[in-house]
Amino acid sequence: MTELDTMRDHMLAAIAASASLDALDTVRVDALGKQGRITQLLKTLGKMSPDERQVQGPRIQALRETVASAIATRKAELERADLDARLASETLDMTLPVEPALVGTIHPVSQVMDELAEIFADLGFAVATGPEIEDDWHNFTALNIPESHPARAMHDTFYCEPQPDGDGSYADGVARKMLLRTHTSPVQIRTMLTQKPPIRIIAPGRTYRSDSDATHTPMFHQVEGLVIDKGITLGHLKWTLETFLKAFFERDDITLRLRPSYFPFTEPSAEVDVGYTMVKGKRVIGGGPDSDGGGWMEVLGSGMVHPKVIAACGLDPAEYQGFAFGCGIDRLAMLKYGMDDLRAFFDGDIRWLKHYGFSALDVPTLSGGVGA
Ligand code: DAH
Repeated sequence: MTELDTMRDHMLAAIAASASLDALDTVRVDALGKQGRITQLLKTLGKMSPDERQVQGPRIQALRETVASAIATRKAELERADLDARLASETLDMTLPVEPALVGTIHPVSQVMDELAEIFADLGFAVATGPEIEDDWHNFTALNIPESHPARAMHDTFYCEPQPDGDGSYADGVARKMLLRTHTSPVQIRTMLTQKPPIRIIAPGRTYRSDSDATHTPMFHQVEGLVIDKGITLGHLKWTLETFLKAFFERDDITLRLRPSYFPFTEPSAEVDVGYTMVKGKRVIGGGPDSDGGGWMEVLGSGMVHPKVIAACGLDPAEYQGFAFGCGIDRLAMLKYGMDDLRAFFDGDIRWLKHYGFSALDVPTLSGGVGA
């Protein structure tokens, strides 16, 4: 075996033993690089005698070609192995379910709020909001409930400690009694103060009263409705409530009874009852209230917005009229979805939430029946 044969065998062995593209490149530089051993051999050709060159030339060239082609072959092998390894590690499990696993549910109160927004949006109402920590003026005075009015006592209000600024006086010199809003009606005031008629809004949200039993919790939810425009009548109020209750309870046989009542912020005022029937020992909204076991159930308060309230918001009561209504959301949820203890709404019991909660993907729509 010549020296060249030995060199070739060593190089071919090193090529075969290269386990990575990097290792193979080291072998290549060592053999064919600028300072590589085969490159050096090629350089010796110039110094040879013509006879010698004629013998050695083809041998060295043959060695170079053999090694170069072995390197190319090994390189292709290693690249392929690399790709195979990547394909094996970057797998996709085609058997995974298409939808993400649904954990958690939409609380019935949130669901009902979404349903209300959907129903009233269809009637041209926007959703308005106001602060839960409210001042005395928005919550009472502007709603025609002055300081000495007995309605203040009836609201079981949570008052906040007065918060004077650093030097003990209020920034604008007006002492404001802050409280947790006892109803969503102050949003009527805030809306009339900031928007021009025609106004059509609902205002769902949290409200607070110092009261607690099976049907009352210190925090509860209301939705307020307000329409202010020219030429608004009780007829508009009745139609709107009837349309709303039919859509909400998803029945056409809803009967309404407007009972004369009193609220300081409406004149005239009406409490609204809906007819229910008895189905398997449970009261179900809809059907004839005269049927066996049937009757009337109060669901909301309403009326024509009092001229004093319209004036308190800087509008001319001779030009603008409107109607308003207020309704307990928790109660609506209980009536529609059949829970009988309000306190469970706010216990955070995961079993209750699983049972009464709604799928996050079932967004209420009118076409699907709002309850979806
Ligand atoms: N704010 C009243 C309450 O909490 C409910 C109410 C009654 C709201 C009549 C209204 C209304 O807008 O017109 O008891």
